Amino acid sequence: MKYFMITGTSRGLGEAMALKLISPDHHLICISRTKNDNLIAASSSLDYYEFDLRNVNEIEALMDQVFQKIDLANAEGIYLINNAAVLTPFSRIEQATSQELMDNLHINLLAPIALTSSFIGLTQHLPLEKRILNISSASAKQLLPGMSAYSAAKAGLDIFSTCVGLEQGTESTAVKIVSVYPGMIDTGLQEQARNTSTEALNTPDIFKMVKDRGMLTSPHATADKLISLLLGSSFHQGTVVEDLLS
Ligand SMILES: NC(=O)c1ccc[n+]([C@@H]2O[C@H](COP(=O)([O-])OP(=O)(O)OC[C@H]3O[C@@H](n4cnc5c(N)ncnc54)[C@H](OP(=O)(O)O)[C@@H]3O)[C@@H](O)[C@H]2O)c1
Repeated sequence: MKYFMITGTSRGLGEAMALKLISPDHHLICISRTKNDNLIAASSSLDYYEFDLRNVNEIEALMDQVFQKIDLANAEGIYLINNAAVLTPFSRIEQATSQELMDNLHINLLAPIALTSSFIGLTQHLPLEKRILNISSASAKQLLPGMSAYSAAKAGLDIFSTCVGLEQGTESTAVKIVSVYPGMIDTGLQEQARNTSTEALNTPDIFKMVKDRGMLTSPHATADKLISLLLGSSFHQGTVVEDLLS
C-alpha cells in the first residue's frame, strides 16, 4: 500500500490530484478546512481531516494522529503533497491587515515547513520510498504588484525545499523533496485573482487576460503531470521544477 497525504483537497488542484490517486493500492489522507464529500464517497481507503492549517502549532499532533492510520510494516511508500494555499491578501502591502499576512504566511509557508518537519521525523528510519512534493508557483519569480506575501511565501517554499534536499542528501533512506510550479490552472484561486480589482495596483489585468485567451489548464490535466512527477524517475532531490507544462 502507498500512502498519500494531500493538503487542500476540498477543491481545485488538490481535489483533482486526490481523485487521480484513488486506487485499491493507495490510501489517501486528505486535509482541508472543509471536507470533500465527493472524494469520501469515491474511495473506501481515505481518511479526511478537517483541519485549519493556520493552526501551525497543532500540526505535530495532527501528524501523530495521521501516522496512526499507516500500517508502517506493510507500507510501500509514503508521500506528502503540500498543496493548500491562499492568495489573500491580493493588495498593496500597506493595505493588507496583519491577520491576512499572518494567515498567508502560516498556510503558504509555515504549515508546509511544519508538515515536512513532522513527516521527516516520523519516516526517516523507514526503508521505503518517502517523497514530499511542494506545490509552489511561478509567482516566486514572476513578480506582480499586490502579490508580495504570496510570492514571498512561494519563494520561501522553494528555498526551503532546496535546503531540506541538501540535508537529506542522496542516501537510499533519504526523504526526497521537490518544489514545483504547476502553471496557471482554472481553479477558484484564479477566479479570485480575476475578481480582485487591480485598479489600485497599477498593473495590467493579467488574470482576466489569461482566462479570456484560454491559457488556463484544467486541474485534471495538471494533476496528471504532477502525479507523474511525484511517482516517476524525474523526482530529483532538492530541485525546483519550473517547467512542468513545457
Ligand atoms: N491556480 C493556479 O493558477 C495556480 C498557479 C500556480 C500555483 N498554484 C498553486 O496550486 C495550489 C492549489 O491551488 P488551487 O488553485 O487549487 O487553489 P484553490 O482552488 O483556492 O484551493 C485551495 C485549497 O487550499 C485549502 N486551504 C486554504 N486555506 C486553508 C487552511 N487554512 N487550512 C487548510 N486548507 C486550506 C482549501 O480548502 P478549504 O478552504 O476547505 O480549507 C482548498 O482545498 C496552491 O499551492 C497554489 O498556490 C495555483
